[in-house]
Amino acid sequence: MSARHGSRPRVAVVTGAASGIGAETAALFRRRGWHTAGIDLRPSDTDLPLLCDVTDAAGIRSAVDEAAGRLGGIDAAVSAAGYYEEGIDVCDISRAQWDSMLAVILGGTVNTCGAVLPHLIGQQSGTIIAISSELALAGSATDLHYVAAKGAVLGLVKSLAAELAATPIRVNAVAPGPTDTPLLAADSLWRKPDYLATLPLGRLVRPDEIAATVYYLATEGAMYCGEVLSPNAGAVI
Ligand SMILES: NC(=O)c1ccc[n+]([C@@H]2O[C@H](COP(=O)([O-])OP(=O)(O)OC[C@H]3O[C@@H](n4cnc5c(N)ncnc54)[C@H](O)[C@@H]3O)[C@@H](O)[C@H]2O)c1
Repeated sequence: MSARHGSRPRVAVVTGAASGIGAETAALFRRRGWHTAGIDLRPSDTDLPLLCDVTDAAGIRSAVDEAAGRLGGIDAAVSAAGYYEEGIDVCDISRAQWDSMLAVILGGTVNTCGAVLPHLIGQQSGTIIAISSELALAGSATDLHYVAAKGAVLGLVKSLAAELAATPIRVNAVAPGPTDTPLLAADSLWRKPDYLATLPLGRLVRPDEIAATVYYLATEGAMYCGEVLSPNAGAVI
């Protein structure tokens, strides 16, 4: 796919663009000639850094509208904003922890899709790629609220993909395995040598490898509809 949409460069809107997977994804699109808007709580190294909390539906709508207006449209939206909590037994997950996790992971994806879709439908082109997690495929202990929210993102992606299948708009998910970003604390269970030794590849995935998967879906993924690509170092085979 050309990096141009008619007379303008293609445009990617990336949430969570200030760090980790979102930052690597925005950087890759930029290197390939796309213009990028980054939505995050913090400034991102993108053509149009926008400060917004993804749980704020009106804020996301206005950030996405600004990106489309200033950059000329939207060709890809990547929903990567998120956070993680591990090591909490299910009975110890508080109501506030549940609400916050669902608001950011599921609600943030809903808000991003809701803000982007009018533009994609208006153009009759474009793609949405939501970042879920390999844990949504495999299940996990002591992080149930995170895994449930990531599983809900997959349900959303598959249903939205089906609903839009008759249009040129594609919706898919990337479900990373444990990836070397600040999201995993230095003492995270997923960084322990004992855990890494259980992975066929024996290592964490790199954020640039997740970015490459996202870019592939955005540029060569026309045959995928509600697909879940999971670069996970063999955690799920
Ligand atoms: N790192 C991993 O092992 C891993 C594995 C599977 C899935 N993921 C998912 O990948 C996505 C990116 O994670 P990462 O590893 O790059 O983490 P990260 O901490 O490096 O980056 C996350 C970014 O999201 C932003 N963010 C968090 N809450 C936000 C909010 N409410 N509104 C706007 N921005 C917000 C943060 O400011 C940060 O810049 C997340 O959805 C995460 O759950 C990560």
